Amino acid sequence: MTRILHIDSSSRPGRSDQKQHGSHTRRLTAQFIQNWLEKSPNTEVIYRDVGTNPPQPTTGDWVHAAFTNPADREDWMQDALRESDQLVDELLAADIIVAGVPMYNFGMPAQMKAWVDNIVRVGRTFGFDRARGDVPYWPLVTDNKSVVVLSARGDYGYDPKGRIAHMNHVEGGVFTPLQYIGISDQYGAAIEYDEFADERTAQSIKEAEQKVIKLVDTLMAKHCNINAA
Ligand SMILES: Cc1cc2nc3c(=O)[nH]c(=O)nc-3n(C[C@H](O)[C@H](O)[C@H](O)COP(=O)(O)O)c2cc1C
Repeated sequence: MTRILHIDSSSRPGRSDQKQHGSHTRRLTAQFIQNWLEKSPNTEVIYRDVGTNPPQPTTGDWVHAAFTNPADREDWMQDALRESDQLVDELLAADIIVAGVPMYNFGMPAQMKAWVDNIVRVGRTFGFDRARGDVPYWPLVTDNKSVVVLSARGDYGYDPKGRIAHMNHVEGGVFTPLQYIGISDQYGAAIEYDEFADERTAQSIKEAEQKVIKLVDTLMAKHCNINAA
């Protein structure tokens, strides 16, 4: 059975297709999941809303505990890592990660960064050994997972080769650490023009929704051996 980890990270609680001032990224992730379940109902979806329930940012205790051999961890170290362990368990259980990640000040929201910081875990998602020399790190997630980042931006021109592509640190901010831990099959789609609220916004929503449907077919072929109709 395929498992999808569905993450939302917008601060806005509702979906833009259901609520005035609702979130576009929540709309796109919900559309992905709904479309997927219509085609493949026998799928487990794990839902994690870091937008309304952000993970704790990492602390000095967290770092100390993470770099302590698991067998030597004291109780306070287990406590410091409890939430991170749960987030890592959810990630490792999934075949596909579908994350709604809005652009906030040219990067991902702090609540999404807190998730990233909690799942890049030494000994669980990457290995570290100084004895290996110049490249002491290696990925531990080796089961061919895929990640989809569904974004939204107020302005426009952030896609590759676009007017202000160089100012977009959202997809790269998520993809680079996930690649580092071993998740290199990466996809994206985004809504632009949110600030303009005109026909360009409507067109951008339409195009992003079409991309989402195509992404479902692409990933279904890959993970479930189901070909697009
Ligand atoms: C705190 C904050 C920072 C933002 N920073 C940017 C930005 O740097 N560039 C941009 O184009 N839009 C920016 N926006 C607009 C959002 O990217 C846009 O409203 C998007 O639709 C938000 O995603 P959501 O609809 O899922 O909530 C910002 C919005 C907020 C709330």
